[in-house]
Amino acid sequence: MSKDIPVKDLPQKVEKEWKNPLEPQERHLTTDLIPFGEYTKLRKRAGDPRRGLFPAVNFEQAYMDELLEDPVMQAVKDDYAYTAWSMEPDSIIFLKKVFEMYKPQVVLELGSGISTPILSAKLKELWKDDDIAPLYVTIDQSDDYLGQTLKLVKKAGTEDITRPVIFPISYFKVGDVAEDGDQKVLACYDFDEDKLFEACDGLRPDLIIVDGPTGGGAGGFPFARMLTAPILSMYVKPNALFCMDDAYRDTEIHETQSWIESNTLQVLGVKAAGKGLMMGLMIENTFNGK
Ligand SMILES: C[S@@+](CC[C@H](N)C(=O)[O-])C[C@H]1O[C@@H](n2cnc3c(N)ncnc32)[C@H](O)[C@@H]1O
Repeated sequence: MSKDIPVKDLPQKVEKEWKNPLEPQERHLTTDLIPFGEYTKLRKRAGDPRRGLFPAVNFEQAYMDELLEDPVMQAVKDDYAYTAWSMEPDSIIFLKKVFEMYKPQVVLELGSGISTPILSAKLKELWKDDDIAPLYVTIDQSDDYLGQTLKLVKKAGTEDITRPVIFPISYFKVGDVAEDGDQKVLACYDFDEDKLFEACDGLRPDLIIVDGPTGGGAGGFPFARMLTAPILSMYVKPNALFCMDDAYRDTEIHETQSWIESNTLQVLGVKAAGKGLMMGLMIENTFNGK
């Protein structure tokens, strides 16, 4: 545990008067997902104990070729180097389709990057004939990475709907205090309700993309996504669509199981795209009433 990172109590209540965005009548989600129970059965039988089902080879070039058909990807490709941290092309392609079906109004993305310019442009396009202005709120813990993302957002022409927010990482105390006074802590974004409320114009996000904080690897925080769903369940729209990348990783499988057990998320299943996308619906009121 890093000494520079503060240790805090979990937020317990909502201070602001959040409002729900409208629910488009044509909203739907028609796709094929692996039921989570079948997916975990597969995990029990397969996968290296250290890597789990996490991909051991690079994605297929055909997916990148398809993503390059997107005009925003064309516009930003020379300013962006794809890395292991990037959301894979077929996941971004799938999320564009999800946006078309679900037509979210307020998207909340945890972990900015190449997904930000492409998906914010898709969101803007979907609402271009409506009086309502959509919002794409993107969170990062790093000024540097968010700064790089914002250059791409400028090229995508979506600065008007993109709201960048930095939330640093803190450790939050969880579970019971042991007899010796010790208490377990988990790292998570230190969501500041005032800042989040302002970025969202006081509207509860209706679609959440979880691709941060960095879970594994150097500089990552293991299980750093564990607290995202319970904390955000206080602020987001009931039934908001929750899409988490890296669902092929054991930490994300474990986090998903904990959200099922704590009644935080109704898990719809796992989309076999990229590093695995877990899809679920946020259950209202995990920490306190709305
Ligand atoms: C999984 S990445 C987010 C990727 C993003 N959604 C995208 O599509 O590119 C999660 C976080 O890792 C950090 N990050 C991005 N690139 C990185 C790199 N090359 N090395 C270390 N951390 C990185 C950023 O702070 C980012 O918010």
